[in-house]
Amino acid sequence: MRSGYEYSRTGNPTRTALETCLAALDGGARGLAFASGMAAEDTLVRTMCRPGDHVIIPADAYGGTYRLFSAVLSQWGIEHTAVDLGDLPAVRAAMQRSTRLIWCETPTNPLLSIADVAALAEIAHEARARLVVDNTFASPYLQRPLALGADVAVYSTTKYLGGHSDVVGGAVVVSDPDLGQELAYSQNAVGAVPGAFDSWLVLRGIKTLGVRMERHCANAGKVASWLSGHPAVETVFYPGLPGHPGHDVAGRQMDGYGGMVSFLASGGERAALKICSRTQVFILAESLGGVESLIEHPGRMTHASTANSPLQVAASLVRLSVGIEDVDDLIDDLRQALDGA
Ligand SMILES: Cc1ncc(COP(=O)(O)O)c(C=O)c1O
Repeated sequence: MRSGYEYSRTGNPTRTALETCLAALDGGARGLAFASGMAAEDTLVRTMCRPGDHVIIPADAYGGTYRLFSAVLSQWGIEHTAVDLGDLPAVRAAMQRSTRLIWCETPTNPLLSIADVAALAEIAHEARARLVVDNTFASPYLQRPLALGADVAVYSTTKYLGGHSDVVGGAVVVSDPDLGQELAYSQNAVGAVPGAFDSWLVLRGIKTLGVRMERHCANAGKVASWLSGHPAVETVFYPGLPGHPGHDVAGRQMDGYGGMVSFLASGGERAALKICSRTQVFILAESLGGVESLIEHPGRMTHASTANSPLQVAASLVRLSVGIEDVDDLIDDLRQALDGA
């Protein structure tokens, strides 16, 4: 007891080290670690919302976030509206008296849409609501939502923070210490916490976050530009491309455009599936944000839960998590997969 630790669900020294580090990276009052990104999201919403409350969610949120709101939290009386968060008048119009949260993801999974965090914070705060930013794609190295006015940053630490595809974890960082205290209460009461070893894996990943993110950004920028000129590619989604609708906002609020790139295959779903099956350096897998490059078909994999919903993704969409390998090897791999697709 003298050490301040009585039971490992309530707290343990390795998790405290991770939580202290996460709070520092985001400039927050408190960081809290969870067993997964979804565990972090669920504990956060059930701490901040009550039955009858309403949440605005992005029109192209991560499929699991959409499923949490549409299939689970809706059963407990928490309502949601999906809105294009790049359209600020539409966000204002969707606000209700009961709106407790604006839930923002920027860049989004899988379409790499950009939302203006400062502008959304203003809309939320005018209505006495709070702004949550899922900062998984950017990581705190590229974007610090609290400094832009958000109240909460949420992460799947499974991705860039962990960085090696060997751990599942989540995190929440808040600017208000009272909210931090309420969340710590829920974290212990609900118990969706990471074990000490998983906490250590995330901490170990964070040691190289900066160098990894620099390389992810450099490689993804080159891959996105190369894809833009290929006839088998109809549209490329990457905020670093000057033609991306969120390019200017991303340039203002991010320190780099990240490692994720999506594109529509000109030949439709068949071509998209063929490309996913032909790459050899890009491994076919669901996750993202690790040192190795991954490819996936969101419609059949990560975003299958959005089928027949307003968040359904195009069948010709392919998502790349661009790793830190030699970029020429990555482009050669995509070339052999795309040629003849
Ligand atoms: C943007 C985003 N948020 C949250 C999650 C959920 O995280 P986890 O898989 O760690 O539960 C994911 C997972 O892919 C994600 O991409």
